[in-house]
Amino acid sequence: MKKISGNQYIKKKGNILYLDGIEMAHISKYSDTPIMIFLEARIRDNIRNFKNLIEKEFKKASIFYSFKANYLYEICEIIKSEGIGAELISLSELNLAHRLKFPPNKILAGGPYLDKKFIEQSIINEIEEIVVYSISDINRINSIAKKYNKIQNLCLRINSQKYDSRLGMNLFKHELNQIRLYNERCKNIQFTTILSHYSTQMNNINQFTKNAELLTEAFKKLQNSGVKIKNINFGGGFPEAAIMPQSQLKLIFSKIHNILKDQGIEYEEIYFEPGRFLVGDAGIFIAEIIKKTEDRWIFLNIGNNICPKFSKSSFRFYNASKIDQSHKYKTSIAGIIPTDQDVLAKNYFFNDNIEVGDKVLITNAGAYTLTFSNRFPYELPSIFLINEDTIHKIFDPRKDHDFSLKLFPA
Ligand SMILES: Cc1ncc(COP(=O)(O)O)c(C=O)c1O
Repeated sequence: MKKISGNQYIKKKGNILYLDGIEMAHISKYSDTPIMIFLEARIRDNIRNFKNLIEKEFKKASIFYSFKANYLYEICEIIKSEGIGAELISLSELNLAHRLKFPPNKILAGGPYLDKKFIEQSIINEIEEIVVYSISDINRINSIAKKYNKIQNLCLRINSQKYDSRLGMNLFKHELNQIRLYNERCKNIQFTTILSHYSTQMNNINQFTKNAELLTEAFKKLQNSGVKIKNINFGGGFPEAAIMPQSQLKLIFSKIHNILKDQGIEYEEIYFEPGRFLVGDAGIFIAEIIKKTEDRWIFLNIGNNICPKFSKSSFRFYNASKIDQSHKYKTSIAGIIPTDQDVLAKNYFFNDNIEVGDKVLITNAGAYTLTFSNRFPYELPSIFLINEDTIHKIFDPRKDHDFSLKLFPA
């Protein structure tokens, strides 16, 4: 059998396409298109590969899955069962993590907008760290921690220094002074970690190197100001596992390790917060061709409403009904939203003989697609989870209505 899209759980034999142990043609029987499918074994493989590599390179390392990449209950449940922590940005995500019984010491929570309830719940539940993006939040957290008689670990998010980046602290002199003062005076917080999440879809090793240099510089600046940091958090930003070969990942970790060593940084633990790498290539869409034109435009019954460009995914398109044919004919693919702007791909290599009704497989769709999906008035797709030769529906738009996190109250 031949792998499709660099993913060993998507294979073809002649004109038959298999998703793990299940023939794609069988799946179409369960539901009309468009449908979304997640491959459990792929998520588990991605986690284990990432984990193995960091454990080989670093003395002490932890992974915190970035829930925003995909916060479906069943997906986060798989991740939890592999012993991975959670990186959260909202109270709804925190409620979901509680329902899934993530241990508090495996939860990092924070972001640019820390509302009082989110801080309160994080503190009451004794989560490992709150991540602060602006200095003004430090005092707020200290006051709330004092009220509940707790000492809260804090992680400082450092600005990536890329052009136009507004997230995180720059550690200018006055900011360092302020942090030092808080460190001395605020008895209900302690600074334990620094974080820099550099970018998304980082294919170039230099981006990881830059991030490591930025973090070592921040570590030293804080140390020289009397603020001793224990842990270093590199954030996420890895591409889909199918896009980044293991050898490249290994090289990245070894480079990071060497930079920290060469700079004499004495840290206790290193953290990573991958989102896309763990789930991106485990998610696929099956859509259908609803129209074609003379000049090789095809129109699918799915579009940027649920398969958004904003997700920055490495989408790949295949004619699943003619999977044995060579895909070498330039074709443009339009989505279902009635605007000329809903283009999924232009001049994409597709098969020659295209027919209305053909099924189209879209791979690498597991991360940020649902997160950035919008409420354009089309029905949401059914979502299935496949594991070996079992399949079950984890989302039915007719019954479940919405996959929004509002479904997970405290
Ligand atoms: C702080 C932080 N950590 C982790 C992530 C996850 O990134 P990715 O899914 O690209 O690995 C993000 C994404 O924006 C982030 O902002």
